[in-house]
Amino acid sequence: MASKLLDNPFTGVGSESRQLATWYFTFAAILFGAQLLFGLVIAIQYVSPGFLFEIIDFSVARMLHINALVVWMVFAMFGSVYWLLPDETGIETVGIKIGKLLYWVFVVAIVIVVLVYLFIQVGPADEMSIWFIHEGREYIEAPRWADLGIVVVALGFVANLFMTGIKGKQTGIITVLMANMIAFAGLYLAGMFFTDNISVDQYWWWWVIHLWVEATWEVFVGALAAYGLIQMIGASRKVVEMWLWIEVAMLFGSGILGLGHHYFWIGTPEYWWEIGALFSALEPLPLVAMFIHVMYDWGKQQGKKSLDGTGESVVNNQPAFLWFWMNAFGNFLGAGVWGFFHTLPQVNLYTHGTQFTSAHGHLSFFGAYATILIGMMYLAIQGKNKIKVMKNTKSSLWALGLTVGGVVGMTIALTISGYVQVLVSRAQMGATWSGYFDGQASVWFAQGMDWRLIMGVVTFAGFIFLIKDFLTTGQNPVHQK
Ligand code: HEM
Ligand code: HEM
Ligand SMILES: [Fe+2]
Repeated sequence: MASKLLDNPFTGVGSESRQLATWYFTFAAILFGAQLLFGLVIAIQYVSPGFLFEIIDFSVARMLHINALVVWMVFAMFGSVYWLLPDETGIETVGIKIGKLLYWVFVVAIVIVVLVYLFIQVGPADEMSIWFIHEGREYIEAPRWADLGIVVVALGFVANLFMTGIKGKQTGIITVLMANMIAFAGLYLAGMFFTDNISVDQYWWWWVIHLWVEATWEVFVGALAAYGLIQMIGASRKVVEMWLWIEVAMLFGSGILGLGHHYFWIGTPEYWWEIGALFSALEPLPLVAMFIHVMYDWGKQQGKKSLDGTGESVVNNQPAFLWFWMNAFGNFLGAGVWGFFHTLPQVNLYTHGTQFTSAHGHLSFFGAYATILIGMMYLAIQGKNKIKVMKNTKSSLWALGLTVGGVVGMTIALTISGYVQVLVSRAQMGATWSGYFDGQASVWFAQGMDWRLIMGVVTFAGFIFLIKDFLTTGQNPVHQK
């Protein structure tokens, strides 16, 4: 399979951009590990509340868990763009020197933010805390000084992408990415200003959270899937890009007004019940399209393999391909199915804010984003080590099996605990104060929390295998150079 990136990824055209990509991926992998460790801390605190008492409280460790999640994914996304830009545009990324400088600004800012979260943790309820400790907006808690830094880095990144896209070849993938990244970066601004009214604050906060994961990030994943399928199985660009445009239309079509499913109970007007119900119920459709997209291209390629009669594998990066495959399933199940479950107001009245939400949060973030970004890391490792055909190794299979098995296990455990909360706390006890505690006192709820911890350890074991595989790829003789 002729793949440009395999010719000379680190000496030819685009080598600087690819090097920057590997930096982004490396820091992303480190933060992914930190995310999992803090996840384990809070999972232990659920079953043994005195754990690390007054050293790292639940609220702080939880903040680190989910902020690390968002930031590692953003790092891996920037890395993915810097990786694919030279392949798609045929030129070196314009302004790459500034891109590299901004990378370090980003890393230093994130490290300072994490240290402040860890050692200062909380401050008085005033402007100083918002500026220098954290803003208290779930997932995007970074203090304001870091917000401004992130905006500068994001603008630099968008500028790199645009200047390169305009100067080089403009494929469909690049056009979609250019439009999408403006929206992606622009939405961040909606989460930056402060109002005293919690309804107004939440109203805008959801613009970032929902419109990121259910619109702009999903479009991004569509573009990565398109790129990956071309690289890994030599899928036809015409077909892949046709799918991409369909997905973009559907994702924005349902995702934008699907925002309404977060406006049911926060003090927004009641017409959001109908809008949220209708449009968010349509959201699984593009996810089905994305699923079919991967299956269809893979199926066509299988046909090609038998026509060739060579019997040779047409996949030039087996671990990456498996992770992309997991993405197709995970996105559909985590976002589509687990999202659809609780998206109608009639159902959400009972499930809102229970462990069911957490089940959906874990399976969707992992299924839709972690999977494909790990796949992109594998593509970069293949390029970095100049491997022509990258095979599965024992570690790569253990990594996939344990992380996917662990997250699916956590999801099942959380779904069971959430069911108890819905049944006992909400349906039987009518969402009363004592109902809240009766639900959590149920043995089913408690066992769900135990299993979440056990499955969390399994997930972490998978991560260790993943890192081992990343670090040993270069020396592993199974790959064909
Ligand atoms: C990859 C895409 C998605 C991701 C990463 C994601 C992630 C999340 C997360 C983390 C939450 C919890 C937010 C919080 O802390 O309050 C949430 C809530 C929610 N999500 Fe998703 N989601 C995705 C797609 C979807 C889709 C497609 C649907 C509907 C079809 C959906 C329906 C919901 C609903 C209704 C809630 C509110 C839950 C509640 O009331 O407690 N999500 N999502
Ligand atoms: C070692 C494995 C993990 C453990 C033990 C773990 C544990 C936890 C715990 C205890 C919470 C707090 C839930 C609450 O406030 O009730 C949480 C929240 C969260 N975690 Fe994890 N987690 C792990 C891995 C992951 C992974 C791999 C992802 C996604 C890629 C993820 C995404 C999230 C999200 C989005 C939330 C917020 C959910 C919400 O607001 O409903 N976690 N996690
Ligand atoms: Fe949403």
